[in-house]
Amino acid sequence: MSVRIIGTGSYLPKKVADNNFLSTIVDTDDEWIRQRTGIKERHLSNGKEGTTYMAAHAAEAALENAGIGADELDLIIVATVSADTYVPSTSCSVQGAIGAIRATCFDINAACSGFLFALHTAHAYICAGIYKNVLLVGVEVLSKLIDWKDRSTCVLFGDGAGAAVVTAADHGREGFVQWSDGAGGEVLTCPGRAVGNPWKENASETGYIQMSGQEVFRFAVKKVPECIRQVTEKTGTKLETIDWFVLHQANSRIIQSVAKRLGVPEEKFPMNMEQYGNTSAASIPILLDEMNKKGMLQPGQKIILSGFGAGLTWGAAQLEW
Ligand code: ACO
Repeated sequence: MSVRIIGTGSYLPKKVADNNFLSTIVDTDDEWIRQRTGIKERHLSNGKEGTTYMAAHAAEAALENAGIGADELDLIIVATVSADTYVPSTSCSVQGAIGAIRATCFDINAACSGFLFALHTAHAYICAGIYKNVLLVGVEVLSKLIDWKDRSTCVLFGDGAGAAVVTAADHGREGFVQWSDGAGGEVLTCPGRAVGNPWKENASETGYIQMSGQEVFRFAVKKVPECIRQVTEKTGTKLETIDWFVLHQANSRIIQSVAKRLGVPEEKFPMNMEQYGNTSAASIPILLDEMNKKGMLQPGQKIILSGFGAGLTWGAAQLEW
């Protein structure tokens, strides 16, 4: 038993904020942001474009692309760190919005690795014979978790949703590796709106994304090549035969460094953070959808997806398109 992605979709908020716009809010400039990150602009939710709204739109587009109905879905997994509500889960809200009446639903939080971890989970369910059609969504409204006075983080992130329909297939070579390191988690945190017990004195309302940029950079450029090598060893595939490396779109310098460390041409690492910034769990499925729409993904191609992010979490998946 194997799995195949049979449809992709995405939703990006209508509002686009370029680097020049950000330089009116904090002390920054277009040149600094582009040189250090590769980001030129990002899409930002208008408030009505919440996590569920964007996830449901991306999901409907993926179902249409897959040519299956919402009522054929067995499972919905949403990867997000920025749900509209603690309960119900975003996946349950998406199920209600799209009418996936047969599907069971849950969310996962693995930050920027979320889509990858969701894909691995779908693979396990499908290969165990439990479910056949699984909808995966990566979605974030990070603009509500950003301190818009902190220039070291607010220039990096964007909002958006990407989705993929995964189904059982009878052949295909695939493999997964996924890792976590809770002891290293303090380099990238977002404490939540109310921290601590509200009945105790330690309660606090400060809850924005905080990051040690250089440490996250070092973590990513070490762990991503490592796990990509691990997954190709697992599947017995030569690195040079991989057609595409679809990486979490945090920063163009991270991706360039990964390509160099692996000795793989940069052209095999498509990038779109220039337009969207870092959309965390949404970045891999948004990029996959773009590649799919452009006709870059051909049947039989070997693709590696790799995510890395808060937790710390990281991993890689090798799939056949
Ligand atoms: N505009 C202008 N100057 C800035 C900005 C900004 N937006 N942000 C920071 N600076 C200044 C700093 O204050 C500092 O000034 P100083 O030298 O006078 O003290 C200077 O620029 C250098 O700051 P650093 O933090 O050392 O800059 P660095 O070269 O490390 O770049 C960056 C920062 C882009 C965040 C980098 O560390 C990086 O790429 N890290 C990877 C982390 C990442 O991409 N995270 C995304 C989210 S995590 C994830 O998705 C897994």
